[in-house]
Amino acid sequence: MKKYIVGNWKMNASQSFVQRWAKTFSELFVPLEGQECIVCPPLPYIACLSASLPDAVRVGAQNVCEAPDGAFTGEVSARMLKDCDVDHVIIGHSERRSIYGESNELIASKVVAAQKEGLTVILCIGETLEQRDDVEKVLASQLDHSIPEGIVLDKLIIAYEPVWAIGTGQVASLEDIEKSHKFITDYVMKKFQVRLPLLYGGSVKPGNAADILNCDGVDGVLVGGASLDPQDFHKIYSASV
Ligand code: 13P
Repeated sequence: MKKYIVGNWKMNASQSFVQRWAKTFSELFVPLEGQECIVCPPLPYIACLSASLPDAVRVGAQNVCEAPDGAFTGEVSARMLKDCDVDHVIIGHSERRSIYGESNELIASKVVAAQKEGLTVILCIGETLEQRDDVEKVLASQLDHSIPEGIVLDKLIIAYEPVWAIGTGQVASLEDIEKSHKFITDYVMKKFQVRLPLLYGGSVKPGNAADILNCDGVDGVLVGGASLDPQDFHKIYSASV
């Protein structure tokens, strides 16, 4: 299985940041066999970032509306993303779940909308600090309820992001990552008879990326803070070989 190195800039950037980031990253970037590099900036910068990066670096979105079009002020549809040459979208990030109250059911309808337009979904799941004693129950419930009926499995990537490890510098131990990844992989295999790409996210940095990427069952990383530094993000991209 190939490795996915995905950057999630969250709500950070400016026009000049995008230009500087793209210039530095493009100078460093050499496509590596068996690896996919995807960067997800805030929506207004998708076109500008996409135009400034080599074709091998894909630009993705951080969210999508569950509806196809119409009176949904402030929302962006999957068709619009596709029209802007986006082919990956993050759905169900813990910040969407906790800050914007997105339920598993809403997330499942966003997955349907995205896949209807041919987008590949990076579906985030993960337990909060309070749920740490019940990790498997939480993950199973998120998998059961965020993945809709009729899912297109070859356009689905799962990202396991323990919420307590996001932006805290507190990375999960390699044993915990392997344990949760094995649980998710087995659960998905039992349910869908397929091995889906499974990424880890939560305080991934250049210094720990190689160890994480070498864990059993880790097919890539979803990187927040460290993806804002093009040199750090490139180090993470290169750490996977
Ligand atoms: P950090 O890498 O900043 O912990 O963020 C992880 C994340 O939320 C990626 O989606």
